[in-house]
Amino acid sequence: MAKTEKFERKIAVTGGAGFIGSNLLLYLVSRYPRYFFVNIDCLTYAGNLSNLISIEKAPNYRFEKIDICDYAAVSACFEKYDFDGLIHLAAESHVDRSIAGPAEFVKTNVIGTFNLLEAARQKIARGGNFRFHHVSTDEVFGSLGESGYFGESTPYNPNSPYSATKAGSDHLVRAYHKTYGLDAVTTNCSNNYGPYQFPEKLIPLMIRNAKAGLPLPVYGDGRNIRDWLYVEDHCRAIDLVFHRGKSGKTYNIGGHNEIENIELVRLVCRLMDEILGGEPREKLITYVTDRPGHDRRYAIDASFIENELGWKPQYSFEQGIRRTVTWYLENEVWLENCVSGQYLKYYEKMYSNR
Ligand SMILES: NC(=O)c1ccc[n+]([C@@H]2O[C@H](COP(=O)([O-])OP(=O)(O)OC[C@H]3O[C@@H](n4cnc5c(N)ncnc54)[C@H](O)[C@@H]3O)[C@@H](O)[C@H]2O)c1
Repeated sequence: MAKTEKFERKIAVTGGAGFIGSNLLLYLVSRYPRYFFVNIDCLTYAGNLSNLISIEKAPNYRFEKIDICDYAAVSACFEKYDFDGLIHLAAESHVDRSIAGPAEFVKTNVIGTFNLLEAARQKIARGGNFRFHHVSTDEVFGSLGESGYFGESTPYNPNSPYSATKAGSDHLVRAYHKTYGLDAVTTNCSNNYGPYQFPEKLIPLMIRNAKAGLPLPVYGDGRNIRDWLYVEDHCRAIDLVFHRGKSGKTYNIGGHNEIENIELVRLVCRLMDEILGGEPREKLITYVTDRPGHDRRYAIDASFIENELGWKPQYSFEQGIRRTVTWYLENEVWLENCVSGQYLKYYEKMYSNR
C-alpha cells in the first residue's frame, strides 16, 4: 500500500491528463492539500502531462500510467492506494473520431467504466466508503428542436457512437448504484471550452487556423446550437457534486450560453482581429459537408444543481471566450506541440525512468 496515511482522503481521477481532467486537477490539488490525488491516465493522443507541470511535484499528487481497459492494472492500483473516491473522466471524447472508428469508444467508455465500477464494487465489499463520480455529457439526450431543454429526467436518445457509449456507461453507473448500493453520482455537462483543449475541438481549432491564415471549416449551414460552459465552472460543479451531490442522483450542468456554431466562429474571428489586428478573419470561414447524424441543438436546464447545491457559472460567455482566445494566443508553443505530436515525448522525458 502507498504511504498516504497522513491524507484525509485518497481520490483517483481518471483521464486527468486530458482537457477537463487537467483543469480539474490543477483546481483540486491546490484547493485540497489534505487530499491525495492519483491521476490515472494511459496517455492517448488526448492526454498531455505537460499541462500538469505546476503540480507534478506536489506532495498530494501522483501520476499512474494505466489503461482503464486493463482490469488487473486498475484493480492493483485500487489496492495500492485504497481510494475512497473516484472522479471518472477518462474517455474517448471526440465525436468525429467515433464516427471514423467506434471500437475504441466502446472499449474505453463502456468496458473501461465497467472495470472501474468492478474495482469500486470490490472496494466496498472489503469495507469502507467509496464515492464514484461519473463525468458524462448532455449528448446522451440526443438533439432538441428549437425550444425546450434537457432535464435530468429527459429520456436518453444518443445519436453518435460517442454519445451512445457515454449513455451505456451512464446506465452501468446507475445499475451499480441500484443493484450493489454503490455510492454514485453522475454529471451530464454541456460543451466545455477553455485552456488545454486538444486542437481537434471547435474553439482551439478555429483559433489555430485563424492565426495561421488557414480555412475555418464549419459543418453544414453552421446553425447547429451548442450550450457552452467555461471549463473552470465545470470543475467547480464537479467539486460540489463530488462532495455534496446526493447518492444515486444525476446533475445536469450547463452555461445558459446557447450559440450557433457560425456565430461562435465569427465571434472568435472578431476577438482575434481586435487583439492581433490584420485582415478580417471571417473571410477564412469555409462551409464543409455536414457531420452524419449531426445533432441540431443542445441546451441544458441546470436548475437542479443550482437549487440543490447553489452552483452557478461564474464566467459569462464574453469573459470566458476572451480568456480562452487570449490563453491560446499566449500559449502558442503548447498549441503547436499538440499539433506536431511533440507533447507525446513529455512522458518519456519526465517519467520513463521512475
Ligand atoms: N469536452 C467537453 O466538452 C465535455 C463535455 C461534457 C462531458 N465531457 C466528458 O468529460 C470527460 C473528459 O473530457 P475531455 O474533453 O477532457 O476529454 P479528452 O479527450 O481531452 O481527455 C480524455 C483523457 O482520457 C484519457 N484516456 C482515454 N482513454 C483512456 C483509457 N483507456 N485509460 C486511461 N485513460 C484514458 C486520455 O489519455 C485523456 O487524457 C469525458 O468523459 C467526456 O465524455 C466532456
